[in-house]
Amino acid sequence: MNNWLDALRKRWLRVVGLGRSTPKTTGQTTPSEADLSQTVPIREIKPTHVGKIHKHLKALGPDDRYLRFGYAATDEQIGEYIHSLDFERDSLFGIYNRRLDLIAMAHLSYSIDPDCASCAEFGVSVAHASRGRGYGTRLFERAITHARNEGVRLLFVHALSENTAMIKIAKRAGARIERDGSDSQAHLRLPPADFDSRMEEMLDQQVAWTDYQLKTQAKQFWAWLGLNRPRTKNSTSPEA
Ligand SMILES: CC(C)(COP(=O)(O)OP(=O)(O)OC[C@H]1O[C@@H](n2cnc3c(N)ncnc32)[C@H](O)[C@@H]1OP(=O)(O)O)[C@@H](O)C(=O)NCCC(=O)NCCS
Repeated sequence: MNNWLDALRKRWLRVVGLGRSTPKTTGQTTPSEADLSQTVPIREIKPTHVGKIHKHLKALGPDDRYLRFGYAATDEQIGEYIHSLDFERDSLFGIYNRRLDLIAMAHLSYSIDPDCASCAEFGVSVAHASRGRGYGTRLFERAITHARNEGVRLLFVHALSENTAMIKIAKRAGARIERDGSDSQAHLRLPPADFDSRMEEMLDQQVAWTDYQLKTQAKQFWAWLGLNRPRTKNSTSPEA
């Protein structure tokens, strides 16, 4: 329990900007090291943010669309995918920058197959300019915690065999990878929910809520001044 309180205190200090924060830059640290020094607020995406989802997915280039959907989705097909999202049944998670643009998102889709009632599928995309900072990894971890708390016991990720980054993320979390030519499927068995998983999710939600409120207020403040916020940092990071 003391560990929990300590983790809670450290996370809050980071959110309010008083804790040590060393953003990860590719090649310098691994996501697990970044976790120790940086909290990435991840918010559940609400249906009111379909416009942001549109903007994020449409900004993906043809190769990324191919990796994300398994085919080079056109703008129209992306529109159909978004239209088919079921916010009541599935869970979507997002990372927002200071301008509240969606820079990364994950979709946890629960199985409707009665033979696999406690299964879910994970899909993710990170804006090109925001890669290599551990966001894909963090979204996977966030989805795992949520899935456990929702009673999911088996998580799937479909990925092309060439998708080194996604396969690395899944493998590091303990997934078994089955390769079938150019396609791969990752299977991750999840332990049942426990006190830690529930507390962790509650904490993540609080951190994300606070982060989003602060960014909203800052955005309103700059709008009230009639100014765009000065771009002192890279807008591809949640801090920017
Ligand atoms: C896959 C994806 C989500 C990874 O996002 P990310 O935020 O860059 O991932 P992370 O920063 O957590 O990196 C995970 C690992 O992959 C590595 N990696 C990232 N991009 C890589 C690449 N192009 N080639 C090889 N390794 C790569 C990272 O270095 C990291 O490994 P490390 O911890 O040993 O350094 C992102 O590349 C993406 O959006 N791709 C297009 C959509 C897609 O492929 N979705 C997955 C299928 S649903």
